[in-house]
Amino acid sequence: MARVTLKETTKRFGDVVAVNSLSLEVKDKEFLVLLGPSGCGKTTVLRCIAGLETPEEGEIYIGDRLVNDLDPKDRNVAMVFQSYALYPHMTVFSNLAFPLENAKVSVEDIKSRVQEVARLLKIEALLNRKPKQLSGGQQQRVALGRAIVREPQVFLMDEPLSNLDAKLRIYMRAELKKLQKELGVTTIYVTHDQVEAMTMGDRVVILNEGVLQQTGSPDDIYFHPSNVFVAGFIGNPPTNFFDCNLIEGVPYTLDTGEFRYPLPEDLAKAAKQCTSGVCVLGVKPQDVLVYKDAAGKKGLIKAQLEVIEPLGEKQILDLKVGDYSVKAVVDPDFKAEMGDELWIKIPVNKAYLFDKKTGKALK
Ligand SMILES: Nc1ncnc2c1ncn2[C@@H]1O[C@H](COP(=O)(O)OP(=O)(O)OP(=O)(O)O)[C@@H](O)[C@H]1O
Ligand SMILES: [Mg+2]
Repeated sequence: MARVTLKETTKRFGDVVAVNSLSLEVKDKEFLVLLGPSGCGKTTVLRCIAGLETPEEGEIYIGDRLVNDLDPKDRNVAMVFQSYALYPHMTVFSNLAFPLENAKVSVEDIKSRVQEVARLLKIEALLNRKPKQLSGGQQQRVALGRAIVREPQVFLMDEPLSNLDAKLRIYMRAELKKLQKELGVTTIYVTHDQVEAMTMGDRVVILNEGVLQQTGSPDDIYFHPSNVFVAGFIGNPPTNFFDCNLIEGVPYTLDTGEFRYPLPEDLAKAAKQCTSGVCVLGVKPQDVLVYKDAAGKKGLIKAQLEVIEPLGEKQILDLKVGDYSVKAVVDPDFKAEMGDELWIKIPVNKAYLFDKKTGKALK
């Protein structure tokens, strides 16, 4: 199997910098997820690795081999697309056999290899059918099978589950992760779905506008976002933000314009690193505490309840704090009415601080 290394890779389409000086190392056998909003360059990264696009700058290695000038067919990677791109006139067997026939594998070996892959993907009973006689999930397995059958060094998967319905997607998520571990093939998996990224990836790479934002374990990305973009992208609902001026004194205090937020020593130390004098205070909706009355409690902020979204196991409250919109997640038994005046608290051990100018997390 193989490592995949990108060194300062840049790919432009006219004026658009689709991938901007991206450096990345995918470890052998790793399941790496590329996550980011639409148009951030995910597909382009995969296509550069596959050899379907030629980057203007940078180097791409598969294992120790520089592949920049290597034909796609010589790179020993297999790509699975969002549209399964099966051959409609061929049976499942022929679809699976096709890459091997191209590679001049003997008829006997093709038979046994296709059988083996079909067994692995539980599609043995479907080998004589044509793609249109299969469900979406079954087609998706065949597409995976076609990638697996050649025993490539690297799998490149571009949103392979996005055409499936929600239930099947959750099922296939786990199946695919299990399969990847069984096969031990280095995999780069593209998605714009953060739940998919967090549940499947050994590591997650977040891209925005072609620029790498953060690389880390799913927990790292979730609990230690390295900048405002990542904090605002991850989590459902995403992190609440407040722009604040830093007021020196004892204690150091943030002034959001709507409320003041005194900082404990560690946060004050972080806030002092801010280059612009303007900080961004962040708190996840799950961490916002909500109270109906303020009696006997300190550090509360007055809020108006605008919308309640009941979701069964939890409720999302849409609150207004002056001009700020704040989301909070509360238990289903929290009873309140739209228009109610409530109180919120941002626990200091759950607060995030960023530099407004650079967007970077302050630590
Ligand atoms: N062949 C092309 N010609 C011109 N521009 C392109 C081409 N392919 C991609 N782009 C542009 O490059 C940028 C990155 O595109 P890319 O397809 O890699 O995004 P993506 O992250 O895969 O998005 P999505 O989640 O929507 O699939 C976009 O601005 C896109 O419009
Ligand atoms: Mg794409």
